[in-house]
Amino acid sequence: MNFHIMTLFKEMVLDGLNTSIIGKAVEKGVITIDAVDIREYSTNKHKKVDDYPYGGGAGMVMQAEPVYAAYQSIADKIGQKARVIYLTPQGQTFNQKMAEEFAKEEDLIFLCGHYEGIDERVLDKIVTDYVSIGDYVLTGGELPAMVMIDAIARLVPGVLNNDVSAEFESFHDNLLEYPQYSRPETWRDEKVPDVLLSGHHGNVAKWRREQSVLRTAERRPDLLEKAELSVEERKRFNL
Ligand code: ADE
Repeated sequence: MNFHIMTLFKEMVLDGLNTSIIGKAVEKGVITIDAVDIREYSTNKHKKVDDYPYGGGAGMVMQAEPVYAAYQSIADKIGQKARVIYLTPQGQTFNQKMAEEFAKEEDLIFLCGHYEGIDERVLDKIVTDYVSIGDYVLTGGELPAMVMIDAIARLVPGVLNNDVSAEFESFHDNLLEYPQYSRPETWRDEKVPDVLLSGHHGNVAKWRREQSVLRTAERRPDLLEKAELSVEERKRFNL
């Protein structure tokens, strides 16, 4: 899968994403991440990419042409239609289900804005998806793009070491993940739950399922409405 990022801060996204698990996946060639500097497509001799908003008001607006030319350079390279995601607090809020949908694509293009926004005309022409990462305002789209790429890339087969681990985790089936423990068996007088040491896979699975439901009820009761619970589970946890 190929991620393409349009940005004014190439180093920020490339340095951030070329580390850890995502960096390893790039090294292995399972995914590619490339960034295009929108400023390189400025037609202005000072490489300016923003100007005052028509109608007045605070701040500057990113101009249409450099953004469009940067997009065109990526589109020419891929040679096929790809979704273009514009990171904006005005978008649909990103979630795991959207990450799963986007992970099916071969190429994704991310457009990171700055200043007070981007000229609406170029957005109308190229953007297919308006996405926000939450109801708060950041200074630019780079961190949101990195958040999305991390969440999407880890779903691509071969990115995580074990393919099952993306399946049994928080938000799968709208339940939070069960608690995890590792050595030592006793840490500062706190013991690992006995069932996990029993070697009885059936009991372990049952305990984990219960913990998942309990934890979701406690921490994210809003998720439970959409979770598939058995009649017994609903009864047992008073749901
Ligand atoms: N740009 C600025 N704030 C943002 C947010 N919350 N999500 C996506 N893009 C943004």
